[in-house]
Amino acid sequence: MNITYNEKNRIFKLDTPHSSYCIGVVDEENFLGHVYYGRRLSSDDLAYLMRTGEPPFVPSENNRERTAFLDTFPMEYTGHNLGDYREGTLSVRTLSGHTGVSLFYVSHRIYDGKKALEGLPATFGGADECKTLEITCEDPVLKLQVVLSYSIFADTDAIARSVRVINNGGEAVYLTKVLSACIDMDNDDYDMITLHGSWARERAIQTYPVRKGKQSVGSVRGESSHQEHPFMAWKSRTATEEAGDVYAMNFVYSGNFIAQIEESQFGSIRAMMGIHPEDFCWKLESGAGFQAPEVICMYSANGLGGMTRNFHELYRNHLIRGMYKDKKRPVLINNWEATYFDFDTDKLLDIAREASALGIEMLVMDDGWFGHRNDDNSSLGDWFVNESKIKGGLKFLVDEVNKLGMKFGIWVEPEMISPDSDLYREHPDWAIRIPDRVGSLCRNQYVLDLTRKEVRDCVYDRIAAVLRSANIEYVKWDMNRQLSDLGSFGLAADRQGELVHRQTLALYEMQERLITDFPELLLENCSGGGARFDPGMLYYSPQIWCSDDADAIERLSIQAGTALIYPLSTMGAHVSDCPNHTVGRTTPFDTRGYVALAGTFGYELDVTKIPEADRNMIPDQVAMYHKYNDLVRQGDYYRIARYAENHFYDCYTVVAKDQSEALVTYVQVLNRPNFHSRRICIPGLDPEKTYVIENAADWPEIGQTEYRGDTLHYAGINIPPISGDFRARLMHLTEVKQAHA
Ligand code: DGJ
Repeated sequence: MNITYNEKNRIFKLDTPHSSYCIGVVDEENFLGHVYYGRRLSSDDLAYLMRTGEPPFVPSENNRERTAFLDTFPMEYTGHNLGDYREGTLSVRTLSGHTGVSLFYVSHRIYDGKKALEGLPATFGGADECKTLEITCEDPVLKLQVVLSYSIFADTDAIARSVRVINNGGEAVYLTKVLSACIDMDNDDYDMITLHGSWARERAIQTYPVRKGKQSVGSVRGESSHQEHPFMAWKSRTATEEAGDVYAMNFVYSGNFIAQIEESQFGSIRAMMGIHPEDFCWKLESGAGFQAPEVICMYSANGLGGMTRNFHELYRNHLIRGMYKDKKRPVLINNWEATYFDFDTDKLLDIAREASALGIEMLVMDDGWFGHRNDDNSSLGDWFVNESKIKGGLKFLVDEVNKLGMKFGIWVEPEMISPDSDLYREHPDWAIRIPDRVGSLCRNQYVLDLTRKEVRDCVYDRIAAVLRSANIEYVKWDMNRQLSDLGSFGLAADRQGELVHRQTLALYEMQERLITDFPELLLENCSGGGARFDPGMLYYSPQIWCSDDADAIERLSIQAGTALIYPLSTMGAHVSDCPNHTVGRTTPFDTRGYVALAGTFGYELDVTKIPEADRNMIPDQVAMYHKYNDLVRQGDYYRIARYAENHFYDCYTVVAKDQSEALVTYVQVLNRPNFHSRRICIPGLDPEKTYVIENAADWPEIGQTEYRGDTLHYAGINIPPISGDFRARLMHLTEVKQAHA
């Protein structure tokens, strides 16, 4: 890892372990240009790549053609309205209504380590783990300073980028767009990859060619969303799981976003990511600064699999915090699908008693314990225990659960307010809505205006009081509606455009407060399933509920899309009841367990009511979790086959860092008649090592044959057909230690 600046050719070069990123300063004009991003290079002699010698020539030599120059030049970070007609990254409106902005290099500094971003989630690392380059640019007319920040890491090929805008002018300006990163490069027959979905089918992987014009994904829902994801990759068309160029951007942010690739008339592409400009307008007073959130840029020469493992490494080591960061999580049972709102102390204790006897380690009480909430019509905001349901009080319930040797967890939804709540009756102006309009309800609730400190404090204090009232060791923080009707009774007219970003900052402030006040709490974020599964939230909680669809087969696609970027240790995954509550599908209990094993693992069912044969499997499933979770959490994840692509089967493996073992999960979704065994190649193993199937009893057709690592990788193994659909098995490969001669 190194960052250099060559004074002679004015090239910055950032070297990660396997990639180089180069930025150039154009002489005289001091435009900042993007020069190169890709495989690591030994030289920084690259200024020629900026094409400043080609028509329409260097701007200082040909001012007449400046617009043409700006419209082709590979900008490192762009201005607006002065001749670059491609979409820009920064837009400003002055008090006189003008919008031109253009940035020029002023100075830079390079230092060890990485600064925190005030009020925002961000990757981190010590002085020996990362280095940072800050380039200061300026618009000399507006006296607007823009600091572009780039941090690189010793252990992954990531570049963490962010932007800070400082108004050194004499009067306020309105920032109408501040994106966080931009990469201009030539199109090389790239395919774009984005994640799409909806409630109960989050993060489906979609691949399509980059073409002329703009292709973008985004959210204006006030959260990263079920529908689209703050991620995009662009890969050479021939790239595979194991080889080829892949570039990616992922936003460390949980509110509105845009991710876009634009291919220009000349075949160059501009990839950009940041806060969505729709509904965004930030008044920047003279002397004030605005910090845009962080974008992670990633390059992998080792295909899509390499990109995935780079992200996993980065987030495990440099984003996730807290006591549970590297720890196994307790196996939980959540009562949502077991009871919905229809529960009381007796019912919960019945579940807990049965669960603890089976080895389950924590009971989570979901929605419905507060106010008079017996359906989703009321009480959000009234965070007081409903003692007609929780008879004997919360402390009694928690103590009883603890006596069973189990931990206790609780569900909350702090960002919301029900019209039918005492809180709303007292403070109708605390809901986000537009004055004189009837606010739009969603799930019978409004969003609380957290931009107001008194609102944050009130809700936080109520929830903290509940957490202090008993031995509560886990919180599921839910968010069940998107923002709409953007209007705040607390913000001035010229600051209404700040609402969504301020709301996101307020959420972060509340979660930071929570994990600071309760450092031993295990926090799981959630948003109507997986609508806010993003790196921003991972900064506060080491795990996030992946989806309300816990059907094992649907989960194959949802978890594969999630694990494209996020470590398996972060994916909330449970064994749920059948027929599945979302799709009505019935799958074998063991298959549900194998699929949930790829995540945090737990149960979402009434353990007192499921068939006895299923219940009897739970102790073995819990033991399986304990046996494999260290490997699953810490190992390297490789996709082998995706059911979403081939429509028959799914397969992935996790390989230990020291390559001493691997766990292969194989799911035969649909059986095929009259079909031979299926060849599976298992990557990631040491070619020099010999492996054996440790759980050979589960593979009677194969037995305990020995294989070399390269044989498993390139020649593969034949997986026999399994009778029936939705059948799954694990294969645990362990290294055969050679006896010393
Ligand atoms: C949505 C979550 O994803 C569910 O797990 C559950 O907690 C409900 N909300 C409760 O309202």
